[in-house]
Amino acid sequence: MHWHILGAGAIGLLWAAKLQKAGHQVTLILHTPEKLTRYNDTGHFQISHNDTSERFVAEAELASSETPISHLLVSTKSFAVIDAFATVQQRLSDSARVLLLHNGMGPQQQLTEKHPELEIWAGSTTDGAYFDQPFSLVRAGIGETHIGRLSACGNDRLFQELQGVDDQLHHATDIATVLWRKLAINCAINPLTALFNCRNGELLKYDDRRAAMAQICKEVDDVTRALGFTLFDRKLMEEAWDVAELTGNNHSSMQQDVSHHRPTEIETITGYLCGVADQANIATPANHLVLEAVRELSE
Ligand SMILES: NC(=O)c1ccc[n+]([C@@H]2O[C@H](COP(=O)([O-])OP(=O)(O)OC[C@H]3O[C@@H](n4cnc5c(N)ncnc54)[C@H](OP(=O)(O)O)[C@@H]3O)[C@@H](O)[C@H]2O)c1
Repeated sequence: MHWHILGAGAIGLLWAAKLQKAGHQVTLILHTPEKLTRYNDTGHFQISHNDTSERFVAEAELASSETPISHLLVSTKSFAVIDAFATVQQRLSDSARVLLLHNGMGPQQQLTEKHPELEIWAGSTTDGAYFDQPFSLVRAGIGETHIGRLSACGNDRLFQELQGVDDQLHHATDIATVLWRKLAINCAINPLTALFNCRNGELLKYDDRRAAMAQICKEVDDVTRALGFTLFDRKLMEEAWDVAELTGNNHSSMQQDVSHHRPTEIETITGYLCGVADQANIATPANHLVLEAVRELSE
């Protein structure tokens, strides 16, 4: 299959490499002409993991290119998904498949509602990667990726066609629950690590941080219960506690975004949760508080 990667950042390039290794053709859609020029100077990207480094040669182009797209992976940050998608929408072939691989919720639901004619998949990943130089990626951790079809349109063949791309790739028959699980954990950990400017594990060491986390978790439990989702077989606080402990030394992406003065994904994480809660008339004061506080930090 020929995959176009829209959002050739850490996750996009990781997937470009996985797809290419499994025999798929890959084209990177780069954000700006400057990025395309810089990429074309070498014509490759590389991925290092432990002591090894691999080089990948992939075609690259801009969204304004006119070649049709049959398989589109969107791996921008969540706040960029809708605008990025609009730049290539007219290039999608009639039977195109779109896979959205980003944190947070909102863009997946918006695109699925707006484009009932499209086969849209969504995913959630615990893979970890970051750049040490432009187009030079460090694979920080090998995680699991769950993908599932969100749209009524289409069939589940895409998953079979992706066999061999990643042995940690799983088919989620209920992708909405998978996305909600990730959202719930992100709500519990990410905004607080950004506000306290701390590592994940440092949320558990202080009474005030634990109390804030417990209140956020209780509200998320209230919302998901009202929506009829059973995310975990125990309270979110217990689940989030274990995740914060297991990833204790990690800096969350939101903490890193705030400390590097980059836009955060707060609107599609806590913002999405608060929007759903407000519509259902469920009070989420602790989540609203951190939403406003992270917004202020990001200004
Ligand atoms: N990195 C990880 O370890 C990791 C792990 C799990 C989940 N995730 C999630 O995966 C998603 C992607 O994260 P990431 O770390 O890969 O982000 P990233 O490195 O910032 O990559 C996003 C890429 O999208 C590009 N982009 C933005 N708007 C675009 C547009 N209109 N057209 C084309 N390209 C566009 C950006 O280009 P510019 O830089 O030029 O704007 C950037 O190269 C996020 O939701 C993140 O939370 C990441």
